[in-house]
Amino acid sequence: MLKYLSEVLRLQGSLWVMLYQGFPGVMKYLPGPHNRMFSKFNAVLDFISQEVESHKKDLDRSDPRDYIDAFIIEMENSKESDLGFTETNLALNSADLFMAGSETTSTTLLWALVYLIKKPDIQDKVQAEIDEKIGRTRHPSMADKLNMPYTNAVIHEIQRMGNIVPLNAPRIAAKNTTLGGYFIPKGTSLMPSLTSVLFDKTEWETPDTFNPGHFLDAEGKFVKRDAFLPFSAGKRACLGEGLARMELFLFFVGLLQKFSFSVPDGVELSTEGITGGTRVPHPFKVYAKAR
Ligand code: HEM
Repeated sequence: MLKYLSEVLRLQGSLWVMLYQGFPGVMKYLPGPHNRMFSKFNAVLDFISQEVESHKKDLDRSDPRDYIDAFIIEMENSKESDLGFTETNLALNSADLFMAGSETTSTTLLWALVYLIKKPDIQDKVQAEIDEKIGRTRHPSMADKLNMPYTNAVIHEIQRMGNIVPLNAPRIAAKNTTLGGYFIPKGTSLMPSLTSVLFDKTEWETPDTFNPGHFLDAEGKFVKRDAFLPFSAGKRACLGEGLARMELFLFFVGLLQKFSFSVPDGVELSTEGITGGTRVPHPFKVYAKAR
C-alpha cells in the first residue's frame, strides 16, 4: 500500500496528470502514465475491500477493534438512511486516512534528516537536550516535550522549511465572495498556497534560512508563531494534526537518542524537493551511527 500510495502522490505532480486535470475529456482516452494513477489507487481500494471482508468474518459488535469495525457496525445501524455509511465510502475513507496519515509524517522525518545532516551543530544541540532531559535508555514520552523547547523548535522549523503540502488541498468557492480585494465568483477553483505563509517575509525573521530561533524567545523558551500553518487552517484543517505532532516528536527524539546521522564527505544533500501531491526530498543515503 505504501509503495502504491507514494506512486500516486508522485504522479499527481507529473506533467501527464496535470494534462489530465486540464483536459480530462481527451486525456481519459489516451494511453500514458496518468492511467497508472487510477490502476494503483484501485489496487489499494481492492486491498482495503479484502480487509473489510476479513473484518466482517470475526466482527464482535460489542467490541469494535478499529475504524473498519466501527464503520461496519454503523453501516448495519443506518441501512435505511442516506448518511453515507456505504462500502465504497468505507474503502475511500480508509485509503484517505492511510494516505494522509503515512506519507506526510515519514516525509517530514526525511526532511528532518536532510536538515540535521546539513546542520550538524543543530543535531548536536538536539542530542544534548535529549541526553539531559531523557538520557540514552528511557523511551521518550509526550510529557518530555514541554521540557524540551529547543528540540520542539527544531521540529517546527523542519516542518516550516520542509513545507510538505505546499499547495494545500484545493477548494471551490461555495458562493460569490471577496478576499484581499479580489472578487472570487461562485464555483472558482482555489489553491490556497501554504508556501506563501510558511515563507512570508513579513512574518519570519529569516524566511529562507533553517533557523530554530524562529520558535525561541531570548531565554530559549518555545514560542508559537501565527504563521506556522503546515497543517492549514479553518474547519477543514488537517484532521491528523494531533497524531502527527505526537508521531513526529516521538520518532524524531527516538531516532536522535540512539543515532547520529551524516553523509559521506563531499556529499551535499539537496533541499530542493520533488513536488507532487506532497513535497519530498530527492532520494538520499545516510550513515546512521549508533551513539
Ligand atoms: C506532518 C504531518 C502532516 C501534515 C503536514 C499534514 C498536512 C495536512 C494538510 C495541509 C491538509 C489539508 C488541509 C486543508 O484542506 O485545509 C491535511 C488534511 C488532512 N490530513 Fe493531514 N497532515 C499530516 C499528517 C496527517 C496524519 C497523521 C493524519 C492521520 C490520519 C492526517 C489526516 C488528514 C486528513 C484526513 C485530511 C483531510 C481533512 C479534511 O479534508 O477535512 N494528516 N493534512
